Order: sequence, then structure tokens, then C-alpha cells
Amino acid sequence: MLPWYSEDTPDQWGFTGNPLGFGFTDEGMGLFLDGYYGAPPNLRWGILLPHFEGKFQTSTTRNAAMVPHQGFVKAYMHNGYLTSLKEVVHFYNTRDVYRHHVLSGHCPKGTIEKVTCWPEAEDPNNENTTIGKLGLTSEEEDDIVVFLKTLVDGFKP
Ligand code: HEM
Repeated sequence: MLPWYSEDTPDQWGFTGNPLGFGFTDEGMGLFLDGYYGAPPNLRWGILLPHFEGKFQTSTTRNAAMVPHQGFVKAYMHNGYLTSLKEVVHFYNTRDVYRHHVLSGHCPKGTIEKVTCWPEAEDPNNENTTIGKLGLTSEEEDDIVVFLKTLVDGFKP
């Protein structure tokens, strides 16, 4: 998870970034349209809300494997739920195979969360259905991860 989810108490300036803590659901564009961050610039956009709940501008996979230093654990996806490219690819491959109607942290006994148990989506109305059961072997998943690791642009800050 992203540090944002733990920022539910006042910082040194008395500012609480995320009062809802782990109860916060990022509705992406929807959060902007429903006024969570303050009224949107154009109030008439409010009628578009049902079409944009849980929608995000997808980041590219360029530099997806790059980390600032060895051992740094990168958090993927909008909420940082996945923490390795293997998990990302395994999710695309098996979301519908190991789908469980539980919340995160409550996977059934005998299953392993993110391996043989995928909890409920945060916003079930917004699930992509072109992926979820790709039928890849673990080795094929690894091959995709190796490919993703090649997508580096060589940028040095
Ligand atoms: C095996 C094929 C795929 C791979 C390897 C892949 C890889 C990735 C990776 C690495 C991320 C995380 C980016 C980041 O957080 O830095 C990502 C996010 C995302 N991908 Fe894919 N992707 C695949 C297929 C798809 C497909 C088919 C769709 C939709 C048609 C899709 C839609 C998205 C979306 C919407 C996100 C952002 C999700 C979020 O922020 O929660 N991806 N993908």
C-alpha cells in the first residue's frame, strides 16, 4: 500500500492528508468530479460522475521495473496494492481464477492472498474483462516480467 493510507493523523504542521486512512477508496477521476478535492472547475461536469468512478489515467510501463536503489519495494497500481511486477502479471493472469468475495486480509484458510486469492475489487463496476484468466504458466509470467524489465529509457537524473 502507499504511505498515503497511513497518513490519518496530523503531521508536524497539524495537517492530516488522509483522514479516512485505510478506509479511503481512490475513485480516481470520480473523486475529482464528486468534489472530494473541492468543487470541480465546472459544476456541470458532475453529471459525468457515474462514467468516471474508479477510472484512472493508466501509467505506461516505461521504466516500470526501475527503482531508486537496490532493495526498494515499488508499489504498483493506483493504490499500491501490488508490490512487484510478478504480482502485477500474476494478477492479470489469475484474477478470475482465484477470485474470492472477501476483503483484503480475509482470504480463506489454505489460500494465499495475491497468489491463490484475489479479494474484491475496490470498484467492481469498473473491472476490465479482457484480462483475469490468461492461462499463462508461472514461467510464462516470468517471461513477461523479464520483458517489462527491458523497458528502460536510460534516463539518469
Ligand atoms: C499482460 C499484459 C499487461 C501487463 C504486463 C500490464 C502491466 C501493467 C503494469 C506494470 C501496471 C502498473 C503501472 C504502475 O503502477 O506503475 C499496469 C497498470 C494498469 N493497466 Fe496494465 N498490463 C497489462 C494488460 C492490461 C490490459 C489488457 C489493460 C486494460 C485493457 C490494462 C490496464 C491497466 C490499468 C487501467 C492500469 C492502472 C491500474 C491502477 O492504477 O489501478 N493492462 N499494467
